[in-house]
Amino acid sequence: MFPTQRPRRLRRTAAIRNLVRETHLHVEDLIYPLFVQENLAKPEPIQAMPGQYRHSLDSLVAEAEKASAAGLQAILLFGIPEKKDPQGSGAFAPDGIVQQAVRAVKQRKLPLAVITDVCMCEYTSHGHCGAIRDNDVDNDPSLAMLTDTAVSQAEAGADIVAPSDMMDGRIAAIRKGLDQAGFEQVAILSYAAKYASAFYGPFRDAAGSAPQFGDRQSYQMDPANIREALKEVWTDLEEGADMVMVKPALAYLDVIRAVKESTDVPVAAYNVSGEYAMIEFGAKAGILDRERIIREILVSIKRAGADLILSYHALEVAGWLK
Ligand code: PBG
Repeated sequence: MFPTQRPRRLRRTAAIRNLVRETHLHVEDLIYPLFVQENLAKPEPIQAMPGQYRHSLDSLVAEAEKASAAGLQAILLFGIPEKKDPQGSGAFAPDGIVQQAVRAVKQRKLPLAVITDVCMCEYTSHGHCGAIRDNDVDNDPSLAMLTDTAVSQAEAGADIVAPSDMMDGRIAAIRKGLDQAGFEQVAILSYAAKYASAFYGPFRDAAGSAPQFGDRQSYQMDPANIREALKEVWTDLEEGADMVMVKPALAYLDVIRAVKESTDVPVAAYNVSGEYAMIEFGAKAGILDRERIIREILVSIKRAGADLILSYHALEVAGWLK
């Protein structure tokens, strides 16, 4: 008898397909990244990321309220300071833009976790993620800057800090700094396997954080490596990370899978700005079915093993999932 196996039997109707579906996307899986700019009167559209904004403090709080009402559990904040300097002092200023933003959101008492990106590149005039010596980022002096940044964000009320700088030893330094300041309950979501990726292009446009010389290849990972990603993950876990991230997501689904299989902590994946922009500009050109593509990509990232997905589509998708 041919054929004995007829997989199409389980694809016949929507009800049967729903019954046998292996991967489900939930609103709780999504984290919504947001940009907030210092001294901005009203939100500014980001040209390279249609549909996303550099928020004012007011519009940021309004967006956080929408996110919470839509069922999202967390937002991730990026700050854009008015002035940048070589030390990136806006990153750890007690009244820095992210610190102000965290306070403003927290004042609303929403059931929403506030995550802050810990990095220097949005705040430094040279656009690198730490202190510069001999045209390169000097690892160990950068740790103090990052620790000060994380502690000041925790002081403002951040629930989770997310270091994205890729310096060696930053998780240990930040954990120690947080604990000494009395923030032993603030969690660390480490951008553990963060690749030197061209997919961050639109983000750097949004945050004005492109390096002014050179690139980030001496600290972010080589896209060709996967075993090294596991080493980064294990190093960060040994140093005290509570959750780990793979970034970008779409071109690194194999890395997400490998990290998931070798750890027992929540694994996050960042569906980054370039991945967002490809969909938006493709849809604008009329060549992609936007909603289907977004759903397909997010469910694929989840299927690869991500427990959490950082996505600029999070708020819109939360509406679809209701
Ligand atoms: C800061 C940081 C970047 C992103 C997140 N945190 C930019 C970079 O490393 O250049 C990228 C996010 C995105 O592209 O959506 N270091």
